[in-house]
Amino acid sequence: MDANTNLLDFVGLDQKTDWKKETIINQSMFLIVLSQIENCNENFKLKLEIRKVMEIVQNPRNDDIGILNISSNGGTIKVNKQILLKNLNQIIDAQTVERAKYYLNRLKKGLTEIKTTKINDLNLNLWKEYDDILTDSLWILDKRDKSGAHSAGYWGNFIPQIPNQFLRRYTKQGEYILDPFLGSGTTLIECKRLGRNGIGVELLPEVAELANKNIANEKNEFNVKTEVINRDSTEINFKKELENRGIKSIQFLIMHPPYWDIIKFSKNKQDLSNANTIKDFLDLFGKVVDNTYDILDKDRYFALVIGDKYSQGEWIPLGFYTMNEVLKRRYSLKSIIIKNFEETKGKMNQKELWRYRALVGGFYIFKHEYIFLFKKAKK
Ligand SMILES: C[S@@+](CC[C@H](N)C(=O)[O-])C[C@H]1O[C@@H](n2cnc3c(N)ncnc32)[C@H](O)[C@@H]1O
Repeated sequence: MDANTNLLDFVGLDQKTDWKKETIINQSMFLIVLSQIENCNENFKLKLEIRKVMEIVQNPRNDDIGILNISSNGGTIKVNKQILLKNLNQIIDAQTVERAKYYLNRLKKGLTEIKTTKINDLNLNLWKEYDDILTDSLWILDKRDKSGAHSAGYWGNFIPQIPNQFLRRYTKQGEYILDPFLGSGTTLIECKRLGRNGIGVELLPEVAELANKNIANEKNEFNVKTEVINRDSTEINFKKELENRGIKSIQFLIMHPPYWDIIKFSKNKQDLSNANTIKDFLDLFGKVVDNTYDILDKDRYFALVIGDKYSQGEWIPLGFYTMNEVLKRRYSLKSIIIKNFEETKGKMNQKELWRYRALVGGFYIFKHEYIFLFKKAKK
């Protein structure tokens, strides 16, 4: 189920309605009808009435009570159709009339109040509906989201579900996101989908061009701004860049740097994948952390996505090294998420060989990477 949108979406009324996913209801009429049904003390009767409402939501032409009558007074609101139907279904499935009334009340509340926090648009009155928002520290994501402009084409890109999860949990519509290692543009594609503004910095001109093409392939339904800057994130003056664009600060930072030299992205010296030593790699990474520190709003979040590497018989914990680099700055650690590794086709064909190597070499095969979540706070 698509729970990207809140059940309520007052703001979206002036935007194009997707009739398959959304429905426009007459808020006050809907609430009156729900209250009348609530007076019903017989479980069977109550459910019969709810069924009628469901039928109208599914076939608006049969609306003989005016709950979808958007021309009358009472305020119209756009509602996520699937979530609304799910709520109605829950009432029908309730075992007792008390339980049915409990769900009915919750729906009424969801239709009248939106309880959000300072950092996202999730309606906490309907928190149970966001069943696709992850809250555990182990992420097993087995399929890459390939919908819309997303493709798996760029070697070393991350799966869109990563920025998707974070943008929904840690940003509000219209806020600004920065990705200083943009690559093929995954983060900015998600920004467009979710109605956030995004700035991405990418060192390599040909990759920045690819990102621009990919991002242009995504519809801009929320009319947000996305921009790719072809520069070096270790030396760019982010504050100035933002000022030039009339932007004061950003509200979320996401970094997916090269995993040192596992994939060599170029021969450019400023490219983190060309660092000669682990120290050089961490120094360059630290520069990007420093460079972006001032522009992130206080109490806002920073997600770092990175994996480890194996070299000359030794596990190099790039994840923990980079985590420490961030913790030397004024960030606090909020979570360490372990995310499963998608099996690349190459690795899949060599599965047996890798298993043999692991048995002989006394090591374990990489199956995970890290997402470190930090919060900007004075320590
Ligand atoms: C792991 S990839 C990011 C992939 C991206 N998340 C995506 O989904 O396509 C790292 C990117 O950082 C870029 N990069 C490396 N050093 C950089 C630097 N100093 N400044 C900006 N970008 C850099 C590389 O060219 C590469 O495209």
